[in-house]
Amino acid sequence: MISPQTYQTYKNLPPLAGVATHAEAAKPGLGIEECVSRLKRFHYAFKRLHEIFTARITAEPIYELKTGFAHHAYLCAEHVDALRTRIGEMREPPLGLEEVPHPALEVLFDEVRAAPTTRLLLSGIYKCIVDSLLEAIDAYLRETNPLTDAPSRRLLRFAHLELSDIRKFGELAIEALEPAPEWIGWRTATLDPLLVAAMGFDGVSQYGGAITLTTDIPRRFSATPYVYDPIPKRDERWQDSYNQGVNPEAFLYDPAMPSKPKALMMLFKRIREIDVPEMMASILTETKGKPWKFYRDMSRQLWDEARHAMMGEVGFVALGVDWTKARITHNWSLRLNTECTPTERHAVLYFIEQGLMTKAGKRFEWEVGVDSGIPLMATIQDFDWADEVLHAAIGRVWYIPQFENINKALEYGDQCWAKIVSNWKEVKNQGLTNHENWWPAIYRQACEAWGETPDPKVLAYSTTYEGKRADLKEVGVGASG
Ligand SMILES: [Fe+2]
Ligand SMILES: [Fe+2]
Repeated sequence: MISPQTYQTYKNLPPLAGVATHAEAAKPGLGIEECVSRLKRFHYAFKRLHEIFTARITAEPIYELKTGFAHHAYLCAEHVDALRTRIGEMREPPLGLEEVPHPALEVLFDEVRAAPTTRLLLSGIYKCIVDSLLEAIDAYLRETNPLTDAPSRRLLRFAHLELSDIRKFGELAIEALEPAPEWIGWRTATLDPLLVAAMGFDGVSQYGGAITLTTDIPRRFSATPYVYDPIPKRDERWQDSYNQGVNPEAFLYDPAMPSKPKALMMLFKRIREIDVPEMMASILTETKGKPWKFYRDMSRQLWDEARHAMMGEVGFVALGVDWTKARITHNWSLRLNTECTPTERHAVLYFIEQGLMTKAGKRFEWEVGVDSGIPLMATIQDFDWADEVLHAAIGRVWYIPQFENINKALEYGDQCWAKIVSNWKEVKNQGLTNHENWWPAIYRQACEAWGETPDPKVLAYSTTYEGKRADLKEVGVGASG
């Protein structure tokens, strides 16, 4: 007698295109209505996670967390995108993707977004939200029919994989910093009850005991409306953040200087790019109501810029150089975030990145990398260049169309950048920095590691940013891209 348990495929070939056994596929599983309802909740969770990770990048002082948040925000943005597409395949519009699936979930994310310290934020994100979301995705993967719902399973398996990586990072970070003492109280009085009230991230999980949202669970950290903090902060390894005492562009474009120390200067330019995520996070957080692709594309670029900073870090470490001896300014992100509108910031970013597409831009940096004889430099600059080509394309999609033509868009970017005229003198007069020349300390270390005597001409380099901006025009501040 034929049954799912005994059924034989032709010559015992693997059944059902490899997605399941007959026994597994013969279980009815979830219906479309239930699948859409759960997937919409997952979509909401990834969207809010993306929002929290992004909003907390700028003012998070710890560099390893800043870059971690940049990564996790990007991954969440991709899963939001995939879930939106899948939900659109299962239902006719309107899909209701902007609706809040349950008020308790909204409060839960508001609470975590408003966590007053880094340690509480980490526990709220990774121990509470990510953990429970993984549980709900697990349940979906178990309960849905693997054949009828193969497209959802495919994207949720991938989401599960990346979310597990995210949780691993979070667990290690929490272990390294130790959980905050208030964590247990917050969790038991606020976060867990909210999850119970929402019946988990899938809306079907029973945790025992019904809770009424409004009467039983007062907001704690989100009792007042959330305010995004636009001031970039850095941990204690990043000293003298107003220092603009070394102009790396003037060194890089000086034909009299050799390529090897130029490579070192490029590593400085890379690690300084941590100011781009700090700034882009403000554009993403303060720009509302754009299509999801905008947030996805900009989050990809934000993550690339965090990677560029880490490439600088990796390069310094590989060369045996202590990068904390360099003075890595936050001038650019600070001023753009506090003196410009989100559109003006985007304009400056696009203007800078457009400038990197010329022969004297990323191609030149890659050539210097190759010429330096340091193979890692060639790799770093090769990918940095490719990423910047992508960023220019992202700018063409999301920035340029706001203007009549590309020239008008560029002109506006140039004007916006000029608005941030050099504050070299002001910060010095205010006693915020002496613009100390950190270059010899970095160059000497590299020479020692290379077993070379410092070149006196290179060692004596002391051109500053006084009256200059990074494209060597006579105004403005140091810049990244
Ligand atoms: Fe970059
Ligand atoms: Fe870029």
